[in-house]
Amino acid sequence: MCWRLHPLLWITLLLKLNHVVVEAVDYLVYKDAKQPITLRVKDLLSRMTLEEKIGQMAQIDRSVATQDIMQTYSIGSVLSGGGSTPLPKATAEDWINMINDIQRGALSSRLGIPMIYGIDAVHGHNNVYNATIFPHNVGLGVTRDPDLAKRIGSATALEVRATGIPYAFAPCIAVCRDPRWGRCYESYSEDPKIVQDMTEIILGLQGDIPENSTKGVPYVGGRTKVAACAKHFVGDGGTTNGINENNTVIDMHGLLSIHMPAYLSSIIKGVSTVMVSYSSWNGEKMHANQNLITGFLKNKFKFKGFVISDWEGLDRITSPPHKNYTYSVLAGVEAGIDMVMIPQNFTEFISILTSMVKSGFISMERIDDAVSRILFVKFKMGIFEEPLSDLSLVNELGSQAHRELAREAVRKSLVLLKNGKETNNSMIPLPKKAPKILVSGSHADNLGYQCGGWTITWQGFSGNKDTRGTTILSAIRSTVDSSTEVVFIDNPDAGFVKSNNFAYAVVIVGEYPYAETNGDSQNLTMVDPGPEVINNVCGAVKCVVIVISGRPIVIEPYMSSIDALVAAWLPGTEGQGIADVLYGDYGFTGKLARTWFKTVDQLPMNVGDSNYDPLFPFGFGLTTESVGSIVKRSTSAGADGRPYVTVILASLFLSLCVAGRMRFTVVSCKSRVELDENFNMECESAGQLELGGDAAR
Ligand SMILES: *[C@@H]1O[C@H](CO)[C@@H](O)[C@H](O)[C@H]1NC(C)=O
Ligand SMILES: *[C@@H]1O[C@H](CO)[C@@H](O)[C@H](O)[C@H]1NC(C)=O
Ligand SMILES: *[C@@H]1O[C@H](CO)[C@@H](O)[C@H](O)[C@H]1NC(C)=O
Ligand SMILES: *[C@@H]1O[C@H](CO)[C@@H](O)[C@H](O)[C@H]1NC(C)=O
Ligand SMILES: *[C@@H]1O[C@H](CO)[C@@H](O)[C@H](O)[C@H]1NC(C)=O
Ligand SMILES: *[C@@H]1O[C@H](CO)[C@@H](O)[C@H](O)[C@H]1NC(C)=O
Ligand SMILES: *[C@@H]1O[C@H](CO)[C@@H](O)[C@H](O)[C@H]1NC(C)=O
Repeated sequence: MCWRLHPLLWITLLLKLNHVVVEAVDYLVYKDAKQPITLRVKDLLSRMTLEEKIGQMAQIDRSVATQDIMQTYSIGSVLSGGGSTPLPKATAEDWINMINDIQRGALSSRLGIPMIYGIDAVHGHNNVYNATIFPHNVGLGVTRDPDLAKRIGSATALEVRATGIPYAFAPCIAVCRDPRWGRCYESYSEDPKIVQDMTEIILGLQGDIPENSTKGVPYVGGRTKVAACAKHFVGDGGTTNGINENNTVIDMHGLLSIHMPAYLSSIIKGVSTVMVSYSSWNGEKMHANQNLITGFLKNKFKFKGFVISDWEGLDRITSPPHKNYTYSVLAGVEAGIDMVMIPQNFTEFISILTSMVKSGFISMERIDDAVSRILFVKFKMGIFEEPLSDLSLVNELGSQAHRELAREAVRKSLVLLKNGKETNNSMIPLPKKAPKILVSGSHADNLGYQCGGWTITWQGFSGNKDTRGTTILSAIRSTVDSSTEVVFIDNPDAGFVKSNNFAYAVVIVGEYPYAETNGDSQNLTMVDPGPEVINNVCGAVKCVVIVISGRPIVIEPYMSSIDALVAAWLPGTEGQGIADVLYGDYGFTGKLARTWFKTVDQLPMNVGDSNYDPLFPFGFGLTTESVGSIVKRSTSAGADGRPYVTVILASLFLSLCVAGRMRFTVVSCKSRVELDENFNMECESAGQLELGGDAAR
């Protein structure tokens, strides 16, 4: 029998066979999410040309990242520098559209390797309008609350992802040893232990590492998490006189015990990337330090993520920067830097590195190590599977839940340094009910000032228009009783204050925003007219002074005129957290994570130093109880029925109420004792109370 097929059937059959063949050719190990990551990396690497490998090592600024460039050079990463946004007040959707456009360029390259977009999200998603701005790290260290740091990490990751970004250059794990450093506020503490504890934020940003993961292997838990970056490796907070990017003079033992521990903690927690410091260690630029980057970080600590340079970090290996870029590229890549934040002139970097490899100055093994690490992180992030972002998370940006979390962080980050001129006469909590109160100072009604540097723009801003949040003044207004008149004058004269019968005043002063070198200060003074406002207000009326600053500042000789003093650091957008504790809805709990010096000529001075003579020592912080907890304590104590409690409660009532024929019982106290917001006992119901038998007098 002879089979005869219709010609059309033959064609169909051939097409089917052809299809199978095409599919077999199309199968690429690196594109198969079921394959182990190490195999995917190996497979992809084996397909890459030198040009494609070097392209992966380049991170360029968004201002130069066109689709065409992404495709032509197979660029590995794009970033927003501080304040670099697609539009002023860009929405989450604007961000996503911009980043997806860039990503489509990367995906159209020969091998279709997705790029990763990175941004400095160092206290929330700080470049972005409408994002929740959390307290800077200097305030978070005060909380001693790693779980809070982790929750902030999770919230930040969601807000960053809401804008289509999978990579945050955070946390800064510098151990700031000298507050004259302009980046001191990016450091959790002068104490390495606190900095280590706060690396818990990495688990919030990236997700909890699985039980079975190997130490040092990076981890990113899917589309609601981001790759983190521990920075700046290493010794950035130890430079001479706190000069930014300067020289950290310390022996190996000091480096390992002060500046290194938080890197080990970060690596154990699966941090994906580490950024190198501009600074030098004993005269050698960290960007060229092979011993520490390759010898320590990669070999000894077994860090398996990638190492990224800082912005133009290679250029700054020489002085002046970019004097010999050929040398810089050689030294930086040989030291072990895997991804180079260029960020503008990428063709120069690419051509120099290419010729170095071709001429044998840099080995292919070094390039393969760099590219393997970058690809490993990209596979781990799942970005090959889902390179483009959708709008599903846009409502996370500046969400109410995140603002509540930031408000909690503000409350816990405040340090009460003085509370009343005599110990038995405390000023805080302030009464919500008062005829008239005064709020003063340059920082009372300025969202930009309370957020500090790295907010909306690199250097920060002034005023209330550039993002959304609650100033301290508006927080006070919405916390006090509706009958309390709040007068706000930023710099009142003494006569006015004296003649106005204010019940008390709140003065909010400090530093203006700054970032990096612009924040270096050898005098650490409060900005004018802060001292004048303190003199004029505190000289005339009982006052609370709130200091908004990135570090301890000179506070003498004003201490004696101040009734209560609060260090609020750089609290961010949720100023309501300050009013929460000022007015007793919550207690003060914060403890200094930095030494508060008396005079700048004592610096550097850190806890444990032999010449330690601070104004307020590391760990200092007065506490107050919230009105709620005082009530709870007295009522639950009352339920105990212990005789002395009975006596205390009874005398409290007797002193506060016009007793007359009142009868009290301890049991009924439980439901009756109430303190109003002014700390006055509510007496209306007192007549119904009975105290074990007839207490009528
Ligand atoms: C900012 O957030 C508010 C409240 O969620 C929203 O109404 C507004 O549209 C947002 N603005 C932008 C530019 O995203
Ligand atoms: C680790 O455990 C997860 C599930 O708990 C599993 O999916 C993964 O394959 C495991 N990884 C390794 C390296 O064993
Ligand atoms: C440190 O600062 C001093 C003074 O500005 C400068 O002369 C020196 O070159 C700097 N050192 C480094 C390593 O940046
Ligand atoms: C730049 O550095 C390279 C490598 O160290 C060196 O050979 C070269 O002479 C330097 N060029 C200049 C102009 O200093
Ligand atoms: C980039 O660097 C090359 C080589 O140094 C130089 O010729 C070119 O002008 C630079 N381009 C820009 C935009 O700076
Ligand atoms: C506060 O305490 C001091 C001494 O400890 C005492 O002299 C003073 O009278 C007290 N003041 C009040 C208001 O109780
Ligand atoms: C303190 O130092 C800063 C920064 O260097 C400077 O701008 C300011 O003028 C100085 N203030 C005083 C009072 O010297």
